[in-house]
Amino acid sequence: MSTDTLTRSATQWPGLVHADGRRWHYLDTAATAQKPQVVIDATANAMGRDYATVHRGVYTRSAEMTLAYEAARRTVAALIGGDESEVVFTRGATEAINLVAQSWGVANLRPGDRVLLSQLEHHSNIVPWQLIRERTGLEIDVCPLTADGRIDLDAAERMLTPAHKLVAFAHVSNVLGSVLDAPRAVALAHGVGAMILLDGCQAVARLPVDVAALGCDFYVFSGHKLYGPTGIGALWAKADILAEMGPWQGGGSMIDRVTFAQTTWAPAPQRFEAGTPAIIEALGLATAVDFVRDAGLDAIHAHETALVAQARAELSRINSVTLFGPEDSAGIVSFALEGVHPHDLGTILDEENVAIRAGHHCAQPLMEYLGVPATARASFGVYSDESDIAALLRGIERTMRIFG
Ligand code: ALA
Repeated sequence: MSTDTLTRSATQWPGLVHADGRRWHYLDTAATAQKPQVVIDATANAMGRDYATVHRGVYTRSAEMTLAYEAARRTVAALIGGDESEVVFTRGATEAINLVAQSWGVANLRPGDRVLLSQLEHHSNIVPWQLIRERTGLEIDVCPLTADGRIDLDAAERMLTPAHKLVAFAHVSNVLGSVLDAPRAVALAHGVGAMILLDGCQAVARLPVDVAALGCDFYVFSGHKLYGPTGIGALWAKADILAEMGPWQGGGSMIDRVTFAQTTWAPAPQRFEAGTPAIIEALGLATAVDFVRDAGLDAIHAHETALVAQARAELSRINSVTLFGPEDSAGIVSFALEGVHPHDLGTILDEENVAIRAGHHCAQPLMEYLGVPATARASFGVYSDESDIAALLRGIERTMRIFG
């Protein structure tokens, strides 16, 4: 990765610098990434200089904005090796999973059909399936984890049956950073005739993803963890699957012809984008995608993996620290400090100019499995470096002194 990418100047990463000029040790990128200036500029231009509606205007600015919005879809598709016709813009990964559940799930799941989730799923990949359980009669199974915190695909292989119609797994755990063996998960799901959805929220900003090579059926992610704006994300689905899916929200743009007697739908992906879309956010996301592709996802992965290795090595020297997750976690380190609630640790670290996330990370079933109410989580991004780890360790040492 170029040193430019890592320059944490106020001009490149304004969110990483306090008003008084001090650098902020931001270790909460798994929750949301800070934005590079190019993304902020792209968003400002889309909202100002270039702003107009899309798919509706007969005037030049609107036609240009429509081209830019559809170019953004192409850019997002290219990031994950998909085709633009297969990318639906959503508010984020949560909305994308809800879309799949409400549209594909309700139409295709019947009483007795089974959905396999894993113990480490984010609530956004649990609750949407529970919401349609009553309507469809589906049963949910939960795949356990290996001792080091990966989805146990040997167990998945034993659990899967022809009754399973869908497997929905996180590509990278938002708590443990564990990376799914996605090709094997796809092969296992397809082996019993099930579809597979991958939640790529933590993956797309941390490793190269190629949905065509993976052969998965659905892939979802959020823009704001990918250095883009909030309020935008994407559902990618295989073209034939998307073509068969019915709309889940009605309104303008998603129709072909409306009469009071009957309405027909626009083709995918427009069929799933009712109303004026998130134009500004889509353009900001496209710029963020260009940014990570320029930096290089292999390079980003190597950079974050090295930081994880260093952080885990340093933390493991502290007797009262328990580390969770595998050694080769992608950019995320969860841990507990004996005798200190993660919220107290997070508060003291904040005084030390270090931001971590402390809590259940929207993964309460995983917390129960780990036997803890919460963990402390440090997560890295392209702008993270050794000074962040040093600041984290200083803060932990101070916390240990305070708690005796
Ligand atoms: N899923 C986000 C996180 O892990 C919110 O913090």
